Amino acid sequence: MSIPCQIGTSKTTLKEHDMSRLEGKVAFVTGAASGIGAASVAALAREGAAVVVSDIDGRSATALAETLSERGLRAMPLAQDVTDESAWPKAIDAVEKRFGRLDVVVANAGIAMKGLVTEMSLADWRRQTAINLDGVFLTAKYSIPALRRAGRGSFIVMSSVAGLRGSAGFAGYCATKGGVRFFAKALALECAGLGDDIRVNSIHPGVIDTPLWGTIPLGGEEARPQRRIDVQRMGHNDAPMGRAGTAEEVAEAVVFLATDSSSYMTGAELILDGGITAGAFPRRKS
Ligand SMILES: NC(=O)c1ccc[n+]([C@@H]2O[C@H](COP(=O)([O-])OP(=O)(O)OC[C@H]3O[C@@H](n4cnc5c(N)ncnc54)[C@H](O)[C@@H]3O)[C@@H](O)[C@H]2O)c1
Repeated sequence: MSIPCQIGTSKTTLKEHDMSRLEGKVAFVTGAASGIGAASVAALAREGAAVVVSDIDGRSATALAETLSERGLRAMPLAQDVTDESAWPKAIDAVEKRFGRLDVVVANAGIAMKGLVTEMSLADWRRQTAINLDGVFLTAKYSIPALRRAGRGSFIVMSSVAGLRGSAGFAGYCATKGGVRFFAKALALECAGLGDDIRVNSIHPGVIDTPLWGTIPLGGEEARPQRRIDVQRMGHNDAPMGRAGTAEEVAEAVVFLATDSSSYMTGAELILDGGITAGAFPRRKS
């Protein structure tokens, strides 16, 4: 429902917020079976979008899509490695055949590797770069034409605070997240320059409590002795807000960028880090 109203000298309409801002839209999320991707899928589906749950872990993607379908939401699982170029045309084709269009893409799949530069193997560097950087390029290369066919769209890149500033022990990860940050800006300009109504923005989460932290291979100094990264403790110590963020909090930023709530934003960055990059802050002692 729209309510006509006057703000200052301009006439406008206030739209009633009905939690269905993406009704009739189709959203594709990579790395969607876990953490931020899974929370994004749930939030986008809540807003009425049909969601493509794409993940290299096909079993978990199917389980999540089934859970959403059981709740009456439209979801399609896709077992997909974002680095496999040959699978991309088939994936986009399958989505358009099933749902008829594509409106929102969240290039979210990513891994994190910790290790000193002098001790990191080239193979590990390349593996991380293949998923975090090449994967985002391939996601864009094959999904942007589908957004064009739909007439407009939103492409969202999951970067990190590691794409805004350096982080000791995470040089490879920072290189990929800084890379996708500027990739998003260049793609935003490319789309705007071509007259596409396609917005491209990046999200920069700080310390978010997801399974990612348990999967970080600890190399170099951290390997002696092997220590598990305690996300809650890190959030408490490092974030001025005194806690780690949740995947659901990041998913709300995804919804914001996916909907017309952000209709005048492109080439921009949304930071969700509890204040980490705001400036100097004394590290808390636990
Ligand atoms: N958790 C954090 O603190 C944090 C902070 C900043 C940025 N991020 C970024 O957010 C994104 C999601 O991270 P998360 O914390 O939810 O991690 P997660 O480990 O919970 O989920 C990542 C998902 O990506 C999938 N994946 C991995 N390799 C893939 C590939 N080659 N093809 C397709 N899918 C693949 C995994 O199977 C997994 O389901 C990543 O890009 C990560 O770098 C996370």
